[in-house]
Order: sequence, then C-alpha cells, then structure tokens
Amino acid sequence: MDFQFLAARREGPVEHLTLNRPEVRNAFNEHVIAELTAWARGVREQAARGEVRVAVIGGAGKMFCAGADVTWMSKTVQYTEEENLRDAAAMSAMFGAIDALPVPVIGRIQGAALGGGAGLAAVCDVVVAADDALFGFTEVKLGIIPAVISPFALAKIGRSAARELFLTGARFSAVRAREIGLVHAVVPSAELDGAVAGYVQDFLTAAPEAVAAAKALIPNVWGRPFSEAAPITAAAIAQRRVSKEGQEGLRAFLDKRTPSWSQRVPNTEDTKDTKK
Ligand code: COA
Repeated sequence: MDFQFLAARREGPVEHLTLNRPEVRNAFNEHVIAELTAWARGVREQAARGEVRVAVIGGAGKMFCAGADVTWMSKTVQYTEEENLRDAAAMSAMFGAIDALPVPVIGRIQGAALGGGAGLAAVCDVVVAADDALFGFTEVKLGIIPAVISPFALAKIGRSAARELFLTGARFSAVRAREIGLVHAVVPSAELDGAVAGYVQDFLTAAPEAVAAAKALIPNVWGRPFSEAAPITAAAIAQRRVSKEGQEGLRAFLDKRTPSWSQRVPNTEDTKDTKK
C-alpha cells in the first residue's frame, strides 16, 4: 500500500504502520484519516487471506501522535454543519475500522500520545509505551472535547478515570496510563522494540482464527447480562472446538508438538520477554 502520510511495511505476517508527519508530531488531518481508513481496510483483506497476523502502529520521530491536526480543525469553522458532521463521521469510522481489525494491533508509543493520539492507543489491543512517554485527553484545553474517541477510551480506562482526565485535560505518565488500562507495558525507550517483538511473538504462537474470534468476543459479551451472554459464549466455544484450528491445537498439545500455525517473529533471532 502506498501512502503520503503513512509508511507501511510487511515483515512476513507482521504489518508495521508508521504515522509519518513528524514535522507536526504525526497529527492527523482529513488526508491522514482517509489513509488510515484505507490501511485498515487493506489489513482486513490481507488478514482474511491469512497474509497478516499482527499489526504494529508507531509514529515517526520524537512523538507517537499529537492527535488531531489543530490547523485542520481550526479551518473547519468555515465548514457547514453538514460538512463538519461528515468530517467527524469519517474520523469516527477510522477509529472504528482499526478497533475492529480481526488481527491483534500493538501500539508502540514514544514521546507523547495526546488527544486523538491517545484515542489511537485506545483502539490498540496491546500498548507498549516508553517510560518517559506522556498521555493526555487534552481536548478541553483547546476548547473541544474527546468525543469521537470516547467509546474506545472509555472501554479502556472506565468512567472514573475519564471523569478526571477528560475534564482536566491533564497530561499523565506512562505508568499512570498503565494503571488505568490504556497501556499494558512500560519499558525504557531502548527496549520498546524488544517489548513489541515479545508481544508479536506471543501472537504468532496463538491460532490466528482463535485470536480473531477472541477479539470479536470481547465487545460482543461486554455489557450484556449473563443470561444474554451465556448462549453467545456457548456457541462461540462450541464452534472453536470443532474448528480445524481447535482440533489441531488440542491434538498438538496431546502429541507434545508445536501447532501448525506457530511462527517465529521475522528478522528476530532472539526475542526477549521485556514486558513489565
Ligand atoms: N496539530 C497540528 N500541529 C501540531 C500539533 C497538532 N495537534 N501538535 C504539534 N504540532 C506542531 C506544532 O505547531 C509545531 O509546528 P511548528 O514547527 O510549525 O511550530 C510542531 O508540531 C512541533 O511542535 P512543538 O510543540 O514545537 O514540539 P514539541 O516536541 O516541543 O511538543 C507536543 C510536541 C505534541 C507535546 C506539543 O506540540 C503539543 O502539546 N501539541 C498539542 C497536542 C494536543 O493537545 N493535541 C490534541 C489535539 S485535539
């Protein structure tokens, strides 16, 4: 896939995406949003063909992402209400498309993830952050609100942290981000790539269709009463047990052998487990 503001590269079954506007700290405007949406569509198609099993999203330069492009947003004052709604819906669709990817998505955060940048972290399944990275739902400091990202951010950090952080717009540390569920691993900058590779390795030893089904199960079960969830969960596990993967995984365990889907991280001889 060729992009103007993104750099995408594949290493075997691992798709690496870099937000590539470092001069504005990878802030996203309508063009970046369109490219990210197209990228997610492409990854979905490649995943369906079994070509991609994991995606890693990072940012070029010092910062992961400074959120929505303030210059672009300030211009939207000239838009009609209909144009503004269309623009916001496109941004919402972009986050939704990444959130619903059938492969695990790892966020690699250095520097800062602010506003929509924190929203991007929220649509990743696993977020690995440098210990000096800063996070913030900073929108209210600019007179706007974290609206489009709120479903994804709330699902990660919950209502209590959101009431503090959405309302103050305060910046917070990677350790705090981990405490509230936005980040999963905090490591020194020099160990970011090793920690990401550790997660990639974990995903490559898990069955790809099972991983996709487990990912889809979470929003499907979340918030439902047990009586509604129970038939959904029973159907989901019954399907997996009789699936080719389920049979292969159970048989491989009993035969004491590696299941057929298990792969090593490409280009990595030794993957350290640096998760903390
Ligand atoms: N939109 C557009 N441009 C942005 C931007 C954004 N969200 N964030 C940073 N930039 C631009 C700056 O205007 C600056 O442009 P210039 O070189 O033409 O002056 C350039 O990126 C570098 O920013 P600067 O602040 O000098 O870099 P820094 O490394 O010291 O700090 C940040 C980086 C991200 C911490 C800081 O720019 C910042 O706080 N940005 C606002 C983030 C934010 O609140 N986003 C929420 C948007 S809803």
